[in-house]
Amino acid sequence: MTPSTQISTEQLAALEAELLNTSGDVPLHNRFRSLFTLKSLKNDEAVEIIAKGFADESALLKHELAYCLGQIKKTSALPVLEQVLRDEKEDPMVRHEAAEAMGAISSTSAIPVLKKYVDDPERCVRETCEIALAKIEWDNSEEGKKHLEEQARAEDQVYTSIDPAPPTSGLLSGKPAPEVVSEASIADLQAKLLDTKLPLFERYRAMFALRNIGTPRAVDALASGFTDDSDLFKHEIAFVFGQLLSTHSVPALLKVLQDGTESDMVRHEAAEALGGIATPEVLPYLKEWMQRDDSPRVVRESCQIALDMYEYENSNQFQYADGLDKSKSVEVGA
Ligand SMILES: [Fe+2]
Ligand SMILES: [Fe+2]
Repeated sequence: MTPSTQISTEQLAALEAELLNTSGDVPLHNRFRSLFTLKSLKNDEAVEIIAKGFADESALLKHELAYCLGQIKKTSALPVLEQVLRDEKEDPMVRHEAAEAMGAISSTSAIPVLKKYVDDPERCVRETCEIALAKIEWDNSEEGKKHLEEQARAEDQVYTSIDPAPPTSGLLSGKPAPEVVSEASIADLQAKLLDTKLPLFERYRAMFALRNIGTPRAVDALASGFTDDSDLFKHEIAFVFGQLLSTHSVPALLKVLQDGTESDMVRHEAAEALGGIATPEVLPYLKEWMQRDDSPRVVRESCQIALDMYEYENSNQFQYADGLDKSKSVEVGA
């Protein structure tokens, strides 16, 4: 379903009913599929429906709602995102995603509220606000404006998501040819990625540059970031692996998923990345962590979604979520 596709009022009502689980028996993965279909519409009606979902109790679902609102990039989503960020009783993962979505929408009108929560007691919330503020500033810089224009013109973009930060300058567009990416430049990006003295926004830029390079060496450099002490930073590395879909990242992702001392947010993102990579070796792990008694809810539910993605990747279904093409399925999670 392309943004220009017309959708009937009945179809929209059916998507809303499924997303909001009005019948009470819609499996979570079907609710996710409806959400992705709504996201692909990229219009204000979809925003309005998605906004109603925040009354749900699944943090996983709610954080995905916020992510999708950011990716739709409509300012009509700002009031509900602000409400979610301001709700200090809300799950920090959901509040983080609301702040990140504000950065994705990149309206200067979101600056005051992001500034207010840059000192939030929850580390992942304050770090996200810091990055979102830097992103809005960068988007409004000369380099940022030029980059956005180039992106709008580019027809062969490998990654179509709106990222929390642009790749490092010089590696801004597309996928660099492997021969032009030297070991020295990967090592340099890795050094930036791991340098805790740098602002998170700069470290994220190195992360997305390494994603665009995408070679096994770049994957190793990214995986070295799992030793960081910021859950936000680590969950973003797992997210990037979910976009890269490199089998080379599987051992690092499995390690994260199985680590009971790791934060739920990081483990959840590792599960979804593994569901996207979908090689036979990952299946038993996803099944195990979907069922284990000691598996946190957000990890269990992520494994459920990941297994649905796995089935999709291994089926002959042409489309995922009624119109989402295969490349969209790797955008799950944030
Ligand atoms: Fe996230
Ligand atoms: Fe996520």
